Amino acid sequence: MLNTRVEIRQFAENDWPGVWAVVHAVIDAGDTYEYPPGASEAEGRALWIQPPPGECWVAVEDGRVLGTYKIGPNRIGLADHVANGSYMVSAAAQGRGLGRALCEHSLERARELGFAAMQFNAVVATNTRALRLWRSLGFIIVGTVPNGFRLHGKDMVDFHILHRFL
Ligand SMILES: CC(C)(COP(=O)(O)OP(=O)(O)OC[C@H]1O[C@@H](n2cnc3c(N)ncnc32)[C@H](O)[C@@H]1OP(=O)(O)O)[C@@H](O)C(=O)NCCC(=O)NCCS
Repeated sequence: MLNTRVEIRQFAENDWPGVWAVVHAVIDAGDTYEYPPGASEAEGRALWIQPPPGECWVAVEDGRVLGTYKIGPNRIGLADHVANGSYMVSAAAQGRGLGRALCEHSLERARELGFAAMQFNAVVATNTRALRLWRSLGFIIVGTVPNGFRLHGKDMVDFHILHRFL
């Protein structure tokens, strides 16, 4: 169960070092996001902190960033009514309900922002924890890209495209 001391709020500039610690570890693990392992802090920042209408949110407990998500239009123009979301929780804070809370928060935020649906573009097939979580939150797999992801830069595995209406 999520601790009541955990606050989910919009990213502020002085959150960046804490966000980078989370993002850096996930990127370097090379098993859940396609972001290139070894990315610099500036590259990581450009990947995670996107210009408006993109938004970044953080989960903070006692001043420490435990997790983060970003949300924004998945595509431009005539397809910009579908949101995209991305989520990361620090290894030390995983398994406490934070991932679920961040995703639920992002779904509510996406509704507030007027999006009609949420899409995840590349959920790695071996990321079974995330897949179970997203499916329990109402997402369905709408497609699979065979061998679309190089796990740790090596073995090719499938990734799934997930979708749910809001
Ligand atoms: C995926 C991720 C965001 C989930 O965050 P989290 O805070 O660990 O998730 P939760 O604590 O809400 O747990 C989610 C589910 O996983 C289960 N779970 C938690 N820890 C687990 C573990 N060590 N092994 C297996 N299952 C586990 C929980 O039981 C929970 O299921 P439930 O809600 O039905 O009980 C997090 O693991 C993460 O940041 N992973 C790396 C980046 C990533 O994969 N992002 C998503 C890309 S699509």
